[in-house]
Amino acid sequence: MSPLSGKNIVLGITGGIAAYKSVTLLRLLVKAGAEVQVIITPNGKEFITPVTLSSLSGRPVISEFFTANTGEWHSHVDLGLWADAMVIAPATASTMAKMACGVADNMLVTSYLSARAPVFVAPAMDLDMMAHPATVRNIDRLRADGVHIIEPAEGELASHLVGKGRMEEPEGIFRVLEDYFSAGQDLAGKTVLITAGPTYERIDPVRFIGNYSSGKMGYALADEAAARGARVVVVSGPVAVRPENPSVDVRHVESACEMLAECEKVFPEAYIAIMAAAVADYAPVSTAASKIKRERDEVPVIHLKKNPDIAATLGQAKRGDQVLVGFALETDHELDNAADKLRRKNLDMIVLNSLRDAGAGFGTDTNKITILRPGGIRTEYPLKSKKEVARDILDNITGKSPLV
Ligand code: C5P
Repeated sequence: MSPLSGKNIVLGITGGIAAYKSVTLLRLLVKAGAEVQVIITPNGKEFITPVTLSSLSGRPVISEFFTANTGEWHSHVDLGLWADAMVIAPATASTMAKMACGVADNMLVTSYLSARAPVFVAPAMDLDMMAHPATVRNIDRLRADGVHIIEPAEGELASHLVGKGRMEEPEGIFRVLEDYFSAGQDLAGKTVLITAGPTYERIDPVRFIGNYSSGKMGYALADEAAARGARVVVVSGPVAVRPENPSVDVRHVESACEMLAECEKVFPEAYIAIMAAAVADYAPVSTAASKIKRERDEVPVIHLKKNPDIAATLGQAKRGDQVLVGFALETDHELDNAADKLRRKNLDMIVLNSLRDAGAGFGTDTNKITILRPGGIRTEYPLKSKKEVARDILDNITGKSPLV
């Protein structure tokens, strides 16, 4: 049985010559047992008729917000929630630009903005449009937003020019979707514990020691693990991000000691524990009960104590059936420092991001990682969105061959 059987797929079609190939893609999806709802842009209808598409999908094709004769309103929110995946093929430069900027002026882009499911985009356009810095920028933006770009191939284009811009063949797009869903539920029934964000160590009621961690990497891991069927607990320091997946259980804490206490409650049940938090190394010995006043001549001295090392503490308690993963954010001697932490904290894997790499580390939407395992096993990955990095990390943990 195809992993697409029973899956709800929104197939978006935009105004490009390659729209005729979407008929084949639709047929493949339907044959695999997927429920397909076609959304076509007004321009798309110039290239292919809704009648063909509705006959093959067994559902009326949606194009406008309202059905002209009945006034029936199509809910982009419902569709966004219904979908297990959205695939836009062909995607024109204009549709991708709208998606990148959130311009919701048609049913397709509006549904994209409401979609919680993974989104796949197969661009198709002339080679010069494809190479234009605006298109390159928009595709990069979509990638950083977690959209899967199905790269166009090189070949003869509708303009008879030869170059990059030919939409991937329907069979290729179908395979990408099948692969995605067969990766599926490999963490079903497993508990995954993740620490995320910074810790705040109180100095007095209004001040703290903290750091710039945004929590984005930890929350991306949480969403990815939840998508694979895991029960996910995030023990999170103060952050602005939220999980996309409503099933993720977020436990909010502030200090390293609170984070450790919460982790120790969950760890015995955890199959995988990923320490993505940037835990403050030191905390004030005591917290002043009232706001420390500014003195005219004296500079206050704050005495610090060492915080507990959460990863190392769990490393000591770890059983043979548990996988403990740490992060290392380094500026120099990256590999040596990371390998040293892997040993010292009794980790099974450490994910190294170097602050030297542009786009890696705190606050960014992208990351560039190297994974180290005991025995000197090392895998380097290129710069990717934090969503894709989360997938690589979980693939590596679960023993799937990493996509490098
Ligand atoms: O020693 P360093 O802080 O560089 O180690 C980083 C790794 O250890 C990260 O996985 C981080 O979440 C974890 N860590 C921890 N508790 C600490 C310090 C670091 O869990 N007090």
